[in-house]
Amino acid sequence: MIYVVGLGPGDYEQLPIGVLHRLLGDLPVYLRTDQHPVVEQLVQEGMQYESFDAIYEKHDDFLAVYEEITNFLIEKAEKTDLVYATPGHPMLAELAVQLLLARTKDITIVGGQSFLDPLFAAVKIDPIEGFQLFDALAFNIDYYQPQQQTVIAQVFDQFVASNLKLDLMEKLEDETLVTLVSAAGTKQEWVKTVPLYELDHEYEGVNNLLSVYIPAQK
Ligand SMILES: C[S@@+](CC[C@H](N)C(=O)[O-])C[C@H]1O[C@@H](n2cnc3c(N)ncnc32)[C@H](O)[C@@H]1O
Repeated sequence: MIYVVGLGPGDYEQLPIGVLHRLLGDLPVYLRTDQHPVVEQLVQEGMQYESFDAIYEKHDDFLAVYEEITNFLIEKAEKTDLVYATPGHPMLAELAVQLLLARTKDITIVGGQSFLDPLFAAVKIDPIEGFQLFDALAFNIDYYQPQQQTVIAQVFDQFVASNLKLDLMEKLEDETLVTLVSAAGTKQEWVKTVPLYELDHEYEGVNNLLSVYIPAQK
């Protein structure tokens, strides 16, 4: 059995108890990445792990990375039960989990907290009013509806932000206010509202935990 858990947005206090038990249990633990703030404390509490960070260096595209991770986990799981841990929640924007689900029924999604809850708190919105979630790396402006609250994830760097800005300018005024949210829900949370034309400017909070929120346009 592959037990799939999420490490949450970044703080140890946000780990659900069931996830914690899996991470500190007897089964081997594999982390998609150990570049996550909770790992240090988990190690202090006795967690032993292997991470897949080195696999990212070997490949030029993400699909090849996640296929290698999936192959490794499926092969290992034939010999022993194991735990696979992703950042956030494992069912949100985790391609290796989708590949695993397509290939095996021997898998249990245990849980975790995604970045969305703390992001909603950071920008103080209720998604029940209507909400869209996009991947900046696969953004298609045709599907973007300005009348809905929108979150765009995977805004990794200025290059991605720049392409996103140009796409959004097809449907929004240059002065439309957008909010950059980095590390929501953690002690490093960083929130900055800027006009759309400044979306790709250089900011200290831009890193691999950055999402962009666009309010509903009336
Ligand atoms: C590959 S997705 C993984 C999401 C993860 N599985 C989850 O549930 O949070 C990574 C993207 O999620 C967004 N993200 C993750 N943590 C975040 C946080 N604390 N605050 C804002 N955005 C975050 C960023 O856009 C980042 O590029």
